[in-house]
Amino acid sequence: MHYFEYKNGELYCERVPVSKIAQEVGTPFYLYSYRTLVRHYKVFDEAFEGIPHLVCYSMKANSNLSIIRLFVHLGSGVDVVSGGELYRALKAGADPQKIVFSGVGKKEDEIEESLKAGILMFNVESVMELRVIDEIAGRLNRRASIAIRVNPDIDAKTHPYITTGLRQNKFGIDVLRAPIAYRLASELPNVKVVGIDCHLGSQLLEVGPFVDALRKLKGLVDQLRQEGMEIQYLDLGGGLGITYNDEEPPHPYEYASNILEEIRNFGCTLILEPGRVIVGNAGILVSKVLYLKENEEKHFIIVDAAMNDLVRPSYYGSYHQILPVRQGEKEEMTADVVGPVCESADFLAKGRRLPKLNPGDLIAVMSAGAYGFSMSSNYNARPRVAEVLVRDDEIHVIRRRETYEDLVRGEEIPAFLTR
Ligand code: LLP
Repeated sequence: MHYFEYKNGELYCERVPVSKIAQEVGTPFYLYSYRTLVRHYKVFDEAFEGIPHLVCYSMKANSNLSIIRLFVHLGSGVDVVSGGELYRALKAGADPQKIVFSGVGKKEDEIEESLKAGILMFNVESVMELRVIDEIAGRLNRRASIAIRVNPDIDAKTHPYITTGLRQNKFGIDVLRAPIAYRLASELPNVKVVGIDCHLGSQLLEVGPFVDALRKLKGLVDQLRQEGMEIQYLDLGGGLGITYNDEEPPHPYEYASNILEEIRNFGCTLILEPGRVIVGNAGILVSKVLYLKENEEKHFIIVDAAMNDLVRPSYYGSYHQILPVRQGEKEEMTADVVGPVCESADFLAKGRRLPKLNPGDLIAVMSAGAYGFSMSSNYNARPRVAEVLVRDDEIHVIRRRETYEDLVRGEEIPAFLTR
């Protein structure tokens, strides 16, 4: 469900024609619908009504300040994975007491910054990390609230690059070894055990793995409680999938009702870290057709957006629907949609059936709100594109297009090379 719709053959974002924005900001650009973002957040949050819960938006999916701010206004917390994300979250006005910090390689300065900010908890991923957190907290005269990120060894049945809850993955502490880590944590002077955490992977299309993981976590919590530890927070991570093509992920209500059944009266505040399900279908990438070319085998549509702007197709082989911004031609063609970057892996779609397009036409790469801009880069010295937020009939540039100056910011030529 989103507010990108055709009206009289023109693609609109809410009440604004997409082509009008292209005229104003140029192409390519990311475009987000405010109404869709709010709706997705609310549907997800309200699905857990009735039990104590906290949604910590996983900002790695889209970390634009305005996007974070918008969710913060709706009461959201934030799941961060780096000092940079913490900085962004705080800058966007997030309540530190609603921030959880995950990640296998937290650095000392990141731990320090988090302690100073007073975050809700660290999701600890190794025993060594636990000791470092304890030591830094001691030095700062604080007590660090922690959860252990448990690796439940459950197959999320998703792309191998975005599966995280299997024993062979680098994430979390093995469910069998977790009790040992908890015992250590409860003995360390500057650490306070407050929760338990897991994250299975991303783009999950079934509820089953979540429920299985939850059951494993509950079993562990029972054991820890018997040992006298207080587990107030149970963080189930993120990972609920979305429709890119013909996937049929569970609706947040279905996801929630299965979880609620398991966790009602369990005495924990449930934490959820959704990213993709909130922002994925609330954003598109708009690009312009530059050239067409063909050989005996193939047609290529060369557009001005590339793998540096949206890496998912090249990196994961992901499918993103591509729509013409203006519906016109009835005639169709099968083509690879490719960008200007000098790599054969630079494509947005392969062998795609599309209405015949011409140079100057605009296309919309759908479902690009999650892991789109946030994974973009300057490869081939391409300035990162603008991000635009539409709210009803208002157009807001929430990140201006980078300039060539931005590209060289911070670089210095040493004196010996200037002679
Ligand atoms: N919590 C943790 C600890 C995570 O590692 C992630 C995602 C999330 C929450 C949010 O997951 P979501 O609800 O968005 O599925 N770049 C990949 C996705 C990588 C996900 C990494 N972790 C992609 O473009 O598909």
